[in-house]
Amino acid sequence: MSNPPFIQVNGLVKHFPLKAGLFSRSTEKVHAVNGVGFAIEKGQTHGLVGESGSGKTTTARLLLRVIEPDSGSFSFDGVPDVFQLAPAQLKKLRRQMQYIFQDPYASLNPKMQIRDIVTEPLRYAEGAKKLSSAQLNGIAEELLERVGLSGGDTGKYPHEFSGGQRQRISIARALSAKPSFIVCDEPVSSLDVSIQSQILNLLLDIQQATGISYLFIAHNLAVVFYLSDYVSVMYAGRIVEAGPSRVLSLRARHPYTKLLLDAMPGNRGAQREPTGDAGEPPNLIRLPAGCAFYSRCPRRGEQCAREVPALREVESSHFMACFEQG
Ligand SMILES: Nc1ncnc2c1ncn2[C@@H]1O[C@H](COP(=O)(O)OP(=O)(O)OP(=O)(O)O)[C@@H](O)[C@H]1O
Ligand SMILES: [Mg+2]
Repeated sequence: MSNPPFIQVNGLVKHFPLKAGLFSRSTEKVHAVNGVGFAIEKGQTHGLVGESGSGKTTTARLLLRVIEPDSGSFSFDGVPDVFQLAPAQLKKLRRQMQYIFQDPYASLNPKMQIRDIVTEPLRYAEGAKKLSSAQLNGIAEELLERVGLSGGDTGKYPHEFSGGQRQRISIARALSAKPSFIVCDEPVSSLDVSIQSQILNLLLDIQQATGISYLFIAHNLAVVFYLSDYVSVMYAGRIVEAGPSRVLSLRARHPYTKLLLDAMPGNRGAQREPTGDAGEPPNLIRLPAGCAFYSRCPRRGEQCAREVPALREVESSHFMACFEQG
C-alpha cells in the first residue's frame, strides 16, 4: 500500500450563522464551505482558485484553526486529525504550519521592528525560548537575506518598505520556524504585476530548497497554474474540478473552469463553445437544490436543477463535478 499523502483534507464544512437582529432570531446560515477535500504531497503546491466568496479563505482559516469546522478531517504529516487536537497539542504543531496573507500592509504590525516581526513564530515556538536577542537578530538577518532583503534592515519598521518588500518580510516570518507547510492566501494579488513574478519565483525557489508544501490561493488562474502542481477549482464552497495543473490548463471540462480560462488575459474568445454566463455566484444563504452553477451554466439539464453533481474521476487524477461528459 502506498503511503498516505502528507496532507489530506476530507469533507470540510463550515456554515456561518447569520447574526440575529435585535428583534429577530435568525437560523439562517452562510454556506461558505460545503464538503471540500484535497491532498497535498510533500514539497508540492496545491492551488485553490475561484471567484470572490467561493470559500477559499474560509478553507485556509479552517486548516490553520483560526476558526473551527462544522465537520471534516485534516490529516497532517502522520497526525490523523488536526481538528481533534487539544490546544496544547496544537501548539506543538503550529510551527509546522505558517501563512502568508494578501495584504502585506495589514498583516505586519506597524509598531514592531522587522527583527521582531520575522522571528515572531520562532519566539512562540516550543523550545526556542532560550534564544538571546543577539541570536534572534542573527536569525532575522539570515532570514531577510534569504528573501532578498538586506540583513542590515532588522531595526527598520514596516512603513520603510515597499509592498513587494513587505511581502518578502511576510515570507521571512513564515520561514522563521522552519515550517513544512505554508498557506499562501492571495500572496501577490495586491502587488504590481512586475513585482508579482519576483515573489512567485521566490516562493518556488524556497520550495525547491526546503521541500515545503504550499496551499496556494488566488483568483488568477495564470498565477495558480504557474505555481501549482495540482489545482482545485472552487465554486460556492465546493470543488467543481480538480486535476494536475497541466491537465486543467489544457483539458478543463467543467463549464465554470472554462469560464475562468476564458477570462484569462490572452485567452478571450479562445474557447469554441459558449462558456456560460459571466453573471453572479449564487446566494450562499439559500443555495439552490441542484448544482450551484445551474443559473450560469450553458449546458444545464433537468438533472442539474434537482441534484448536486458529485466529484467523479473523468480521467486519471482529473475530477469534475458535472453530470455532462465535458
Ligand atoms: N466570519 C464570517 N461570518 C459570516 N460569513 C462569513 C464569515 N467569513 C466568511 N464569510 C462568508 O463566507 C463566504 C466565503 O468567504 P471567503 O472569504 O472564504 O471567500 P474567498 O473565496 O476567500 O473570497 P475572496 O476571493 O474575495 O477572498 C462569503 O460569502 C463570506 O461573506
Ligand atoms: Mg479570500
